[in-house]
Amino acid sequence: MPKLADRYPFPAAEGSHWTVPQDFDVAFNWDYDDGRATMMGLYRKGIEMQWDAETRIDWTQELDEDNPEQLPEEMLPISGMAQYESMSRKEKANVRRHFQGWQISQFMQGEQGALICAAKIVTQVPDIDSKFYASTQVIDEARHVESYKRLLEKFGVAYPMTAPLQELIDQVLRDSRWDMTYLGMQVVIEGLALAAFQQIRDHAQNPLAAAVNAYVMQDESRHVAFGRLALRDFYPHLTQHERDEREEFLLEACYLMRDRFDAVEVWKTLGLDPAKCAEHMYDSGFMEMFRSSLFTRIVPIVKDVGLWGKTIRDGYETMGIIGFAQTDVQALQESDDDIAKEFDARRGYVQSVIDRAAALQTA
Ligand SMILES: [Fe+2]
Ligand SMILES: [Fe+2]
Repeated sequence: MPKLADRYPFPAAEGSHWTVPQDFDVAFNWDYDDGRATMMGLYRKGIEMQWDAETRIDWTQELDEDNPEQLPEEMLPISGMAQYESMSRKEKANVRRHFQGWQISQFMQGEQGALICAAKIVTQVPDIDSKFYASTQVIDEARHVESYKRLLEKFGVAYPMTAPLQELIDQVLRDSRWDMTYLGMQVVIEGLALAAFQQIRDHAQNPLAAAVNAYVMQDESRHVAFGRLALRDFYPHLTQHERDEREEFLLEACYLMRDRFDAVEVWKTLGLDPAKCAEHMYDSGFMEMFRSSLFTRIVPIVKDVGLWGKTIRDGYETMGIIGFAQTDVQALQESDDDIAKEFDARRGYVQSVIDRAAALQTA
């Protein structure tokens, strides 16, 4: 099988390695007394809920030739655009394969960002219970990179990390304040990821694509809970000025996610006009659904961790997203967990039918 990076239509800007300079102190903690009960509870859950991508997912399943993840046509952001609608069946299939492959590529690349950030939290965060929990997240994120890489191999196409995502990760990693890794990764990028994964989990008719996203989301909801716990304890101790700085970062990140994730690499690769495609995409039903899902995941967490000063409230008011603060985050997390369990049950049922049929044949 060819190397994944050989399938990039153009090489990653930095070649095969990207390095980000770091400037922070590694923190040891000699206080081994029991940590916070809620954090230790989450740590225990993180250990108990480990899974192996090799066995939990049935990798013999294939993707669809014309529409890999078997998504409804309106989930292709340029559907309805004259140039796309006039294409042949084969050309349309190629557009779907590239766009869906681009998305899964961003998931895989972003998961590597999460892997690095979780490891950074282990070394930098002062509390030992947080180090414990974050260490379970490190293995979770490695498993996510692995799962998306295996799914992506079936597309036959892959893309380097998109510039806006790289910008965000670069900013988070360069920041020497430990809480910024949480805020950038556990709140903003995890929120972005959950919104994007959910679209596929809930709309893909392809069982493999849906299952991978359901299982990854089950872990991610723990990661968001981790960010909430750590930051909720920390932010009340900061000055208003320090909180304002965080609120400004959050606002900028929300604008970036709303306006810049326009898949220009795909449109360029396919020889389409990137500006026209991005314009069509911005007003599409796909983006409307994505934005609502994105802010449902982020805004209530921001409020919950106590970054709810005038800066952010005014900013979210202007963006028209302040209403999302009312979302019941707990219910959302429980539903992510339940849906993953339903996928397990379905696979268990299918396996039992196969086993019974095999038993009948050999009887
Ligand atoms: Fe992840
Ligand atoms: Fe995560």
